[in-house]
This record gives sequence, structure tokens and C-alpha cells, in this order.
Amino acid sequence: MTPFKMHGTHILSTGSAVPDICISNDLLSNIIDTSDTWISTRTGIKERRILDNNQSIIDLARIASDEALIKGLIKAEDLDLILFATSTPNDLFGSASQLQKSLGATKAAAFDITAACSGFVIGLIVAQQFIQTGTYKNILIVGADTLSQWVDWSDRTTCILFGDGAGAAILQPSRQNDLMSFELNTDGSESHQLSIQHQENSSSIDYKNLNFSAQKISKYKYLTMNGKEVYKFAVSKVPESINKCLQTSQLKTNQITWLLLHQANQRILDTVSQKLQIPTEKVLSNIQCYGNTSAASIPIALNEAFNTGHICHKDIIAIAGFGAGLTWGSILIQWNAIE
Ligand code: ACO
Repeated sequence: MTPFKMHGTHILSTGSAVPDICISNDLLSNIIDTSDTWISTRTGIKERRILDNNQSIIDLARIASDEALIKGLIKAEDLDLILFATSTPNDLFGSASQLQKSLGATKAAAFDITAACSGFVIGLIVAQQFIQTGTYKNILIVGADTLSQWVDWSDRTTCILFGDGAGAAILQPSRQNDLMSFELNTDGSESHQLSIQHQENSSSIDYKNLNFSAQKISKYKYLTMNGKEVYKFAVSKVPESINKCLQTSQLKTNQITWLLLHQANQRILDTVSQKLQIPTEKVLSNIQCYGNTSAASIPIALNEAFNTGHICHKDIIAIAGFGAGLTWGSILIQWNAIE
């Protein structure tokens, strides 16, 4: 019998994309009762990118994926699996197959992961399982969201926070292992703190009189959030989660080269890094340019860190996602530049 052999997982390449339309805080303050000072002091956000009506989430995901494919010298036809982390799909049955078609990745299996801002972290972990077991060789993970289409633009407590974007990474087996440890959690009892819920009573099916209307249209409400509770949840659970990963890998906080948190709010980034005693210069942040792009925020920041040469051989990156569900989780990466 052939002995079962676990493979290491390597991050081969990354990519990202944001829409061209840029909405600054000043511009927003012309349409709702807010100000640049309020938004930037409470969140760190200065501007966000918003998808044009004639573009779709698949267009953004395609651009991000193409960058990762080009940098990784991989052809779309060589992809075995596409994991599409999004909570704003084009199609409730899933949008991964649309991305597969757009890329021409004819050999790849493809499915969606719906886990809001934790989606990309979960995608990395799912991909790692397929690679470790030797099932697949080339896996594309995309985190993309267009929450601009799901927020109420007259609600100043939520609309100021979000932007649209996409980020991608390609994972391959390797002798060395980049993905050192991970940790995942869900607390469904708190799901009401942040959600986009289905409209109640939207069904027009009258079972009693066997009246099945052909005009039934299902609707979702706008995004709702209890900001204070989400803040408290993030700053208490995320340091715990990262500490558990460090313990598993027998590492100390001061060995972390980069802290990459879901870009929800600069105050969350500051508080989490303070709790972990990680200095500000080790915290990756681009929130001022894009706001909270949900599943896209981590891969966009990761791609920017690679493109600007911040991440070097053997650097240790602690990544944490958190958000609706409520879900949260961390992954520790030691990136090996050369196989
Ligand atoms: N402009 C001006 N004033 C505002 C705005 C705004 N955009 N929004 C709210 N206010 C007002 C409120 O009406 C309130 O006024 P009042 O005191 O007269 O009643 C005042 O500002 C304070 O409002 P709070 O809600 O108490 O503001 P808070 O300090 O909690 O900040 C914020 C709100 C920024 C949303 C904060 O709670 C937060 O960051 N929470 C975390 C949210 C988050 O990160 N969510 C995403 C994570 S998960 C995911 O990514 C999907």
C-alpha cells in the first residue's frame, strides 16, 4: 500500500482589482448628513471604490485572477479548482461558475464560499485541505464583494463603511509549507448583529387555496449592523484567535513580521494590534483607500504587500478574518519565496 503523504502548501501568486469610481468622504457628505472628520476619525476611511452599473463582480474577480495567473505563470486551463468567496453573488446558486467561464478555466471545479468578511481566510483553509491530500495542484481562491449594492445609501451609520473590490491567490503543493496553522469559529447566536436578511412574508404562495402566484419576487433587506457590538466582538475574539494559532505553531507574537486583519475599521486594527503588542509598523492597512471590501479586503492588502515588496522570504504573516455569521478565524503563514 502506498503510504499517505501530506503535501505542503505554497502561495504562488496574488492579484487584486478595485473599480475606477472613487467616492471620497467629502463627496458622501454632499448626499448624507456626515463629514470627512467624523468618518476618518471613527473608521480611518477616506474614500471607497464603487462598481459602475455596467460592470459586475465577475469583471472585478476576473481582473484580480488574471493578475495572479500572469504572476504565477499559470494558464487558466491548468486550474483544478476555483473557490469564490463572496456574499454578493450575481446568482444565488453561486457565481463561481461564471468566473470559471470568464477565465476559460474549463478543467476547474468551482464553487462559492459564503462567509462575508471571513470568506477569504476560509477559502485558503479549504484550499489547503485539497492540496495537503494531493487532490488538486493549482487552486485559485478569490475574495470579492460589492456591498455598495446592498447598503442603504441614505443610512449614514452603514453606507460610509463599505466599498467594492476583489483579490485573488493561487495555491500549489510544495515541499516547504507556507500555511503553518489555522483556527476557525462561528457563533450563529449573534448572526443578527450583522446581516442582509430575506424579507419576511415575501412569498405569495397560498397553500390553503392552492394559489401559487407566478409573480412572486423574493427580496432582501439592506445590510443592517449593530456597530458597537460588532466592534466589541472583533476586538475580543480576533486576538484570542491569533494567539491560538501562535500556540499551535509554537511561535511568539514578536516573531510575527506582518499583521494582516480584515480591513473593517482602523480602530479595530489599532486595538487588536495593541492587545497583541504588535507595533503599528507591522500592521498592514489600506482601509483609508478602499473602506471595508468584505471578502476582498485581505487578498487586496496581501497583493499590495507582495507588489510593494513588503513581504519577503520567511516572513511570518498573521491573517485574521471576522464578520457576519458571526464568523472569525486566523491563519499563520510563513512565506517561502523559493520552492
Ligand atoms: N456621520 C456622522 N454622524 C454619524 C454617522 C456618520 N456617518 N454615523 C453615526 N453617526 C452619529 C450617530 O447618529 C450618533 O449620534 P448621537 O450621539 O446624536 O445619537 C453618533 O454619531 C455616535 O454613533 P455611534 O453608532 O455610537 O458611533 P460609534 O462610535 O459606535 O461608531 C462605527 C460607529 C464606526 C460603525 C463603530 O461602531 C464601528 O466601527 N463598529 C464596527 C463596525 C465594523 O467594523 N463593521 C464591519 C465588520 S464586519 C464586516 O466587515 C462585514
